[in-house]
Order: sequence, then structure tokens, then C-alpha cells
Amino acid sequence: MITTKELRQKYLDFFVSKNHTIIDGASLIPENDPTVLFTTAGMHPLVPYLMGEKHPSGNRLVNYQKCIRTGDIEEVGDNTHLTFFEMLGNWSLGDYFKQEAIEYSWEFLTSEKWLGLDKNKIAVSVFAGDKDAPRDEESAKIWLALGVPKHKIAYLPKKNNWWGPAGKTGPCGPDTEMFYWVGEGLPPQGSNPGNDETNWVEIWNDVFMQYYKDETGNYIQAQQKNVDTGMGLERTVAVLNNYHDVYQVDTLKPIYNRVLDLAVVKNNIKAVRIITDHIRAAVMIMGDDQGVVPANVDQGYVVRRLLRAAIRRGRELGIDSYFLQDIAQVVIETLNNPYQELFRNKQRIISEISIEEEKFNKVLNEGEKKVKQFISNGKLSGEEAFQLYTTYGYPIDEIKRLGVEVDLDSFYEKLKAHQELSRVGSEQKFAGGLADHSEEVKRLHTATHLLHAALRKVLGDHVAQKGSNITKDRLRFDFSHPTKMTPAEIQQVEDMVNEQIKKHLRVWWTEMTVTEAKQKGALGLFVQKYGEKVKVYTVGEENDWFSRELCGGPHVENTAELVSFKIIKEEASSAGVRRIKAVVGK
Ligand code: ALA
Repeated sequence: MITTKELRQKYLDFFVSKNHTIIDGASLIPENDPTVLFTTAGMHPLVPYLMGEKHPSGNRLVNYQKCIRTGDIEEVGDNTHLTFFEMLGNWSLGDYFKQEAIEYSWEFLTSEKWLGLDKNKIAVSVFAGDKDAPRDEESAKIWLALGVPKHKIAYLPKKNNWWGPAGKTGPCGPDTEMFYWVGEGLPPQGSNPGNDETNWVEIWNDVFMQYYKDETGNYIQAQQKNVDTGMGLERTVAVLNNYHDVYQVDTLKPIYNRVLDLAVVKNNIKAVRIITDHIRAAVMIMGDDQGVVPANVDQGYVVRRLLRAAIRRGRELGIDSYFLQDIAQVVIETLNNPYQELFRNKQRIISEISIEEEKFNKVLNEGEKKVKQFISNGKLSGEEAFQLYTTYGYPIDEIKRLGVEVDLDSFYEKLKAHQELSRVGSEQKFAGGLADHSEEVKRLHTATHLLHAALRKVLGDHVAQKGSNITKDRLRFDFSHPTKMTPAEIQQVEDMVNEQIKKHLRVWWTEMTVTEAKQKGALGLFVQKYGEKVKVYTVGEENDWFSRELCGGPHVENTAELVSFKIIKEEASSAGVRRIKAVVGK
């Protein structure tokens, strides 16, 4: 048997033996990237480096990364899909490419020293080629030379064998994926992932990032060729242990068992799995230090949806008492090693989850009453059901569960129009992000550093960054501060930033250890280990600076490029956290 802990360690050890440096995983909430709500893959926080910025830990990296994928949420409940999962990954930033990447993967999977998997049970897929990029014969040749027979190499289209970008634009490329046979005995002759999607389970993906997808949807050759790989931790542990499904894996099983314990109805396995997955994902999102709590927008909305779906599934299982807190405790116990942030944020997670459960139970109870009031002629119209949903948050499935007849066609028509409107809203957020090195974004990025420093000088050292989000048009900065800023304070901060712009200060960076960065007064979330190198941006001169922060960049070279700075809004973001929106150059 192999545990998640053992596989994480083996993976790191293997790549360290191949001269990779271990880096810390990032938060689930992307910094400075409005194009996606969550970190969806290990490569996502590395985008600036995949695009050529120098990484302080070198050009061969390895780590494990917390990921959230909401795109697969409909599949959750099957044997393999999870909303929250961990990804093991290794990267070459302009260093090795296909040959070594594939050789490393093969050695790790098959060598007795590492996973020692049966070579007969491994098959691969490579990119079949299309108008954007050629057929990947190069990867196929490497697999053949390693001993993978021709009939176990499937050539598949972009839908299967292409990865990225993580947002709308950014690095991407063809990939080669590795699959493990989970069927009876050995795979039959000629069987491969192209003709049998059930018995071949994907465990690892090597992406060859040699393209950049631009704003117009074109794939252009990237200046730097990178390798980005990802191995699904839970899936691989399940496969290695011959488990039938991922819920048997040690980072899921205690949670699953606890849900099953509480269930009155014991035979609805799908509901037990969904509750396990959803509460686990919600706790992990809330567990990050950014402090996400259930809300009606962005990450908080996803948390709300996950928790509410879990509560409704709980009712299906006959659980009518409050149970989220109980399950959340088990999630924290199961995952706080290695994710110690769960411990740090335990109080908040538990109390916010309980508040949400109470709120939603109220919605369900009041909704039930409203349904009864609305019913005329024993039926609910689409408009009434839609109103119950938008005004009270009362879900259509609950109406169905009550056995009330409802005009579903008309309901879904109204829902679709409503969702269309929200989609347009969220697409407006698209420009910007880590992959965006446009001048506007660089200017706003530098302005954010100036704002952070100015806030601390005007309001005090308790001001700490709680979140940052940049689009082409504005910056948004969340920071801890107990009260609304006065107009005078806002003016003072704005003036101070403008003063720095007028001084034409130099913006430059150096690499140093975390200890050195702290000694030199740099701000930032110090999640790195002591001794590890970080990149520090300074605005000003070595011994006379205005701002100094840990940051991956990119920034402008001189504050003069900002032209001017204006705060357009100051408002509450959540308890004890204020939010500023600001623009430059007007
Ligand atoms: N970024 C690649 C994936 O997520 C490795 O599959």
C-alpha cells in the first residue's frame, strides 16, 4: 500500500535526484489573476516564469499543489473526479524538453527504485496534430525507444492532448499523457486510451509548452520552451493500491466514512461521495489565508454552492440535524498535514460554515412555506419558481423534491437568460492576469506596491495585503484595516503615491534569501522556507526606498510610467478588510 504522504515524498525525492529544486505550493486563490477564480494546476502560479521571468529557485522545479476544478463538478460522484485535488508537478523553464521529460516520467513510473509499475499496464497518448500545431511524432518516437509498443500509443486531438492556457491567454502546448490499466488481468492486444476510456485511467500529463495563445486566439511560437507536468495525487494513489475509487484514498476515506456514519439512508453512495467531495473542497478554499467565506460572488459563491449542495444531499440521506461542522472538523484533521493553514484558520472555517448552514436551512424552511403560498391550481409557474430561486435562493430541485408540479420549461428559459447576463459580466473580467504582460497591467502592478506602502505609512503597520486583483482598467487592493478610511486619509494616500510618481523612482529587483528579505524590510506573504531564494522588488534606491515587496513581477522600470494615480473607491470587503479600487495615467 502507498499513502498520499509517501507518493508526495517519492515524487519530490525523484526530481531532486534529477537536479530539481522543491518550491512551495501556492494558495488556491490566485494572486493578481482575475482570469480564473482558482489555482487549477501547478503551472498556474508559475505563468510569469513560463513566460521568461527568471525564477529565483532556478529552471528545474518540483512541488505539490492544491488545485480546484469546478469544470468537472457534474462528474463528481463517479470513481475519479474531485473538485479539490492535489497535483504533483515538475517543470523545466527553458531547460530540458521532450526527451528528458518523457524519460524521467518513464523512469519514475517503472523503475523498481521508484513506483515499479508493470510496463505492460502502461499506455500513452500523444497529440495527433491540427492546423495550429503538427502531429507529435517526436514524443511518439521517444516512447517507442523506451519500449512502449506502437499499439499502446494513441494519437488524439486537441480536446484530449493539448493543455492550457490556464486563463484566456498564455502558455500552452501539446501534451503526452500516461495511463494505467485498471481492467481485469492484462490489457488485450491493441487496447489503448484512444479505444478504451474506461479501463485506462490517466495518471500523468507532460505538457510541452512551446506556444502562446494570444488575445485573438492565435497560437504563436513561444520564446521559451518549457515542460509542465502534472500527476493527480489521489488518482494515482488509488490506482497504485488497486482501489476501486478515489474515496478509498487516505485523504478522503476518513471524511467519507464520517458522512456514511451520519447517514440514515445508507445506500445512496453517490450522495455520500458528493458530500465528501464538496465539504472537502469548501474547507480547502476557506482554509487559505486570504479568508474566503461563503458569499454571492467569486470564490465565496463557489464555496456557498458547494456547501448548499452538500446540505441538500444530506437531506437526501436523511440527515436533518446540522452536520457540516462535524465533517469540516474531519477534513481539517485529515489534511492539516501538510496543509497547516487549515489549523491556522480553523476557527473561521468552522464558524463561517455553521453560519452558512443555518442560513441555508432557513432558506429551505422559508422556501417551503413560500412554495405553499405560491401554489395556485396545484401548480407552480416558471416565473414563480424563478422568483423563489433568485429572491430566496430556493433551489428548483427542492421544489421537485416536495413533489410540487412546476412548469420546468419556462423556469429553465428564464434561468438561461439570467445566466447569460452573468456570463457577460464575468467575461468582462477577462483581460489582465499573470499571463498579461501588457503595459497597462505592469503599471497597475507597480501602482499596487506604491499603494500598499502608502497605506501602511498613513494608516499604520497593521495594514496587510488581503488580496489583489488587476484588470487592464483598474487595480483592486484588499487590506486589513478596522474602519472606513476618512476622505482626508484617502487624499493623503493618493497624494503620497502621486509624489512617488513625480519623483521618477527606479523600480528594480534582486534575488535574496527569505531571511535577507525580511532583514531588508520587504513586505509580502512569507510562505517560503528560510534559506529559499525569493524575488524582491524595490521602488527607490537601495538605502532610500519607498516600497519593497516580495513579488514575481512584472513591473514598469520607473514610476514615471504611471503618470498619475487616482483612488476611485474605498469600501468594505469583509469584516476588518477594506477594498480600494484605483486607476493610473488619467
Ligand atoms: N498543467 C497540466 C495539467 O494540469 C500538467 O494536466
